[in-house]
Amino acid sequence: KRIALFASGSGSNAEQIATYFADNADVTISLIVSNNHKAGVIDRARRLHIPVLLFDRKTFYETDQITEILLNQPIDLIVLAGFMWLMPSKLVQAFPDKIINIHPALLPKFGGKGMYGHFVHEAVVAANETESGITIHYVNERYDEGQIIFQASCPVLPTDTPEDVAKKVQALEHVHYPRVVAEVLAKLDS
Ligand code: GRF
Repeated sequence: KRIALFASGSGSNAEQIATYFADNADVTISLIVSNNHKAGVIDRARRLHIPVLLFDRKTFYETDQITEILLNQPIDLIVLAGFMWLMPSKLVQAFPDKIINIHPALLPKFGGKGMYGHFVHEAVVAANETESGITIHYVNERYDEGQIIFQASCPVLPTDTPEDVAKKVQALEHVHYPRVVAEVLAKLDS
């Protein structure tokens, strides 16, 4: 099975997933795909010896190049790991139920456009939530609205800062995302 990892930022989730499958002969991380040539994930890809595919907005939204490249690998599963752009409908249609994403909150709360990265944790703290967590879901053409696959939660204390919440949520991401990717891959066979 071949996975393409999409990331726009540091890529810690991408690295966790690549490491998880490193000694699995049946699963290959074929590509790390990014829209940000300055992203930390590129250095991680280099260290992990995974090819990087970079693109700009025009290529992503006005051509079918990325969809064609992924179909020709062929990629079996697209895993978004901190990817900040909406997936073009052509790409979503080419990979039905084969694109998953992780959101650093308990959807449907704290989801949607603009709710990503630190903003999410600030909103959770501002709302005096007593818990937060992660949501792994299928990707469709609207932000964060695909079918939920897995959720895990962590407590939010009244004394927690957004940074404290971010640390707890990221720990959940690193523990759960690789395993959930493996479970989704296994389901693709059946
Ligand atoms: C994580 O918070 C993830 O939930 C969100 O973007 C962040 C990615 O972090 N989608 P990293 O780039 O994997 O370190």
